[in-house]
Amino acid sequence: MEVLEYDLVVLGSGLAGMRAALQAAKADDKLKIAIVSKLHAMRSHSVSAEGGISGVLYTGESDSAKLHAYDTIKGSDYLSDQDAVEILVGNAPGEIKLFDNLGVPWNKGEKGKIELRAFGGMSVPRTAFAADKTGFFMLSTLYDTLLGMPNVKFFHEYMATKLFVEDSKFKGLFTIDMATGDSVVFVSKACIIATGGFARIFDFTTTAHSSTGDGIALAYEAGMQLKDMEFVQFHPTALVPSGILITEASRGEGGYLVNSKGERFMERYAKSKMELAPRDIISRAIITEIEAGRGIKDKRFGNYEYVHLDLRHLGEAKIDERLPMIKEISMKMAGIDPSKEPIPVRPAAHFTMGGINTDIKGRISAGARHGTLGLWAAGECGCISVHGANRLGSNSLSQCVIWGRITGNEAARFASTSKKPSGNRIMADIEKEEGRINSLLERKEGENPYAIREELRRTMDASFGVYRNSAAMSRGRKKVIELRKRFKNIVVRDKSRVYNTNLRDALEIGNAVELALVVAECAINRKETRGAHSRKEYPKRDDRSWLKHTIAQKSGNRVKITYSKVEITKWQPEERKY
Ligand code: FUM
Repeated sequence: MEVLEYDLVVLGSGLAGMRAALQAAKADDKLKIAIVSKLHAMRSHSVSAEGGISGVLYTGESDSAKLHAYDTIKGSDYLSDQDAVEILVGNAPGEIKLFDNLGVPWNKGEKGKIELRAFGGMSVPRTAFAADKTGFFMLSTLYDTLLGMPNVKFFHEYMATKLFVEDSKFKGLFTIDMATGDSVVFVSKACIIATGGFARIFDFTTTAHSSTGDGIALAYEAGMQLKDMEFVQFHPTALVPSGILITEASRGEGGYLVNSKGERFMERYAKSKMELAPRDIISRAIITEIEAGRGIKDKRFGNYEYVHLDLRHLGEAKIDERLPMIKEISMKMAGIDPSKEPIPVRPAAHFTMGGINTDIKGRISAGARHGTLGLWAAGECGCISVHGANRLGSNSLSQCVIWGRITGNEAARFASTSKKPSGNRIMADIEKEEGRINSLLERKEGENPYAIREELRRTMDASFGVYRNSAAMSRGRKKVIELRKRFKNIVVRDKSRVYNTNLRDALEIGNAVELALVVAECAINRKETRGAHSRKEYPKRDDRSWLKHTIAQKSGNRVKITYSKVEITKWQPEERKY
């Protein structure tokens, strides 16, 4: 076992994590900063963000920060904290310009003006983009920049298994170096968790296999609060049958959604916005069409029913220029050339609005107190409450980089002025965690973790999908509880140390099962329809009873649920019509 000392550890190497490290490294060039990730940094899920990043680059008659805030809050079904939204819209343009300076090849028009495209729920086009590979270009630009910073070191493929917190103070992080199987403990003054979301607890999802919510599960296990975990976003257009994202920008560029009768059915659900309504509304519309017998089925695309995303009228030249990756994905994964045939799509779990409860600066809350010393969360794993019950497309990249910057600054300031951490319990905690991992590897017989994973994902799809109802959710919760029990007895068949992906998978599955139970409890408790949480027996939003955030905390074997206030600054809740 090795112990490494750093001033700041950033756990996670996606856009939020790398942006946080960049900011901290610039804030104090004497800080020793480690970026620790279970993946190679360039395989972080941000790399697959496609359509773009939101921000009001050109204010004038048609757009303003105020309008961006209004769209975001209305899109969130009034559950976002409005003070946080004001920070988002105020800081997004500066971040887009920063990435322009760093070298992101934004699509630009005459005189080098960054172009903007339309996205769902936005009143005007305000999404900057680099073709349909925005995440790849932003992440590689950041990675390249960080490689040149002497005070930042990457630890690729280190799986974190435990956060050490003592008396509400962060002490360190236990990891397994995948290349050797050795235990490596990072002791540091501060830590920013930026490990992304957990939509991989579902089967049909646009997210990477790595999106298992590890950082959220570690924080939950360490006693931190989670917030709004019932709100899981279903992206309307995932390719059938693989679930790969077909960017909303396809509709922003003019694509149509069409049912088996050839109707542009969005006319029935969101007449003014049509295919550019928010995601919760379009996903419900697609499932409603399928349930009404107007879905499409074709053996070429497996057993799923779907609708068509028709891009043919855009023409080959526009598709090649603005949506080259969508063309490539459709051709390689479904054998469809979108300039000649419509693309088969249906909703898939895409983004998790809930996550670790933080204050407006990304500081993690523990227990009733706001703020564990030395611990922040940024990006999808943190619930700063910008997106509320439903995120608008392209607001996630803005959130990642803005709260990357904010937490980077905050953590740097804290680490620059704090002493080296000391703790009475840390050695005992390290030994205990090593013992847990060793006993997992030593067990010779038991449950197959992959069977648990498959059953979990199918259960989440069946019980906590686009439409939810009490009976299905209760069945789902019962099944998740059973899987959680069975997980305690799993066997890891590969007993070797070097690149033991069997062990890593098992650890991820354990995290996924814990988070699934939190989702189930929070979803069952919220008896209304709001944003992505859509209940058949409570089809309306109920502000009198439910205009509040759900807070979940581990209490022994159970999930303890309380509620907290939604911050309303300027925009009173109103009926949400598009
Ligand atoms: O459709 C998309 O390109 C996804 C963007 C997002 O989730 O923000």
